[in-house]
Amino acid sequence: MSMWARVAARRLRGAPTKLLWETSPFGYQPLREAVADHLQLARGVRCSWEQVAIVTGVQEALDLAARIFLQPGDRVCVEDPGYVGATRLLEAYGARITGMSVDSEGAVVPRGSVRDVRLAYVTPAHQFPLGVTMSIARRLALLDWARRTDALIFEDDYDSEYRYSGRPIPALQGLDTRGSVIFAGTFSKVLFPSLRLGYLVVPSDLVERIAAVKSLSTRHAPVLEQAILCDFMVEGHFMRHLRRMREVYAERVSVLLDYGRERLGGLLDISPVEAGLQTVGWLPGTVSDVRAAREAAQFDVEVVPLSIYSRKRLEREGLQLGFAAVDPPELRRGVEDLERVLTALTRNTSITPGARRNSTKSRRPRDA
Ligand SMILES: Cc1ncc(COP(=O)(O)O)c(C=O)c1O
Repeated sequence: MSMWARVAARRLRGAPTKLLWETSPFGYQPLREAVADHLQLARGVRCSWEQVAIVTGVQEALDLAARIFLQPGDRVCVEDPGYVGATRLLEAYGARITGMSVDSEGAVVPRGSVRDVRLAYVTPAHQFPLGVTMSIARRLALLDWARRTDALIFEDDYDSEYRYSGRPIPALQGLDTRGSVIFAGTFSKVLFPSLRLGYLVVPSDLVERIAAVKSLSTRHAPVLEQAILCDFMVEGHFMRHLRRMREVYAERVSVLLDYGRERLGGLLDISPVEAGLQTVGWLPGTVSDVRAAREAAQFDVEVVPLSIYSRKRLEREGLQLGFAAVDPPELRRGVEDLERVLTALTRNTSITPGARRNSTKSRRPRDA
């Protein structure tokens, strides 16, 4: 944060008056150029800076796509379980939602019986909430499906920046040859939540149409913040921040996995973590995820029941586990508290925090 403050102070002191004027709906050009360079290198996205729009986040990017491409009654496929904020937004535009199940290779391509799909919303880099990275075979199959059915794909690249193992797989957008993928990501997750800056990469033939709609809604994202972010990227601070935080998170992942497996065997089956800032733990069939999350909250352990992200009943319930904001000692304490809670629940009893110790410290995930 101190580096951000330094870059911001310098930018504000020396801001030329043209930074106080309005800019193009797609945003501050030097930032669009920096984002295009970054996405080409880090995510395998194929784009020119002209295709990059700076938005306030993935939510605005999806809102723009829905405004432009959806008519009430259009069918949209979403992952199930999936990001509820996307489904709610799409429903608000009158979309008919069809769930795509998610397996170990990512979202499953809709079957032939699912017809007239206008848009599919997917999170291939790090499926939300299960954390699976979509395999290359599945990416190609999804693109082939989009070609055959003439559907658009909205690729939400949220939480893609940190990878701990496995080879990086290029974004769907970079594998697409037909201009059927709209790609979006955010800076709020990797920098700080209130930043509210993200990007949308659109096929070249849609640039004008999307710019026209954006100029009628939000006009453009705030220019001074864009200029600060641009300096932060161009001067290399952004990549240094990612490298530094990757090491911090890699340590947290290994504590969660190693200690979790040691203490929670038979109680919570924690999935391996290839990328991102959260994973899932699967519960024994007899334990309700909502109840487990509620009881864990009494110990200030914040875990999210997977069922709140699911449209259909899950075969097995589970908990979403975030590790970004929790240092190793706290992670270990959290694992021990979960062990107490889940042991009690498997015996069909509950345990109160007073039985352990007074905890006042929140383990609510915070971004770095
Ligand atoms: C999977 C996923 N996509 C998108 C968003 C929203 O992104 P933004 O904050 O950039 O609008 C969230 C927020 O939690 C999310 O979990």
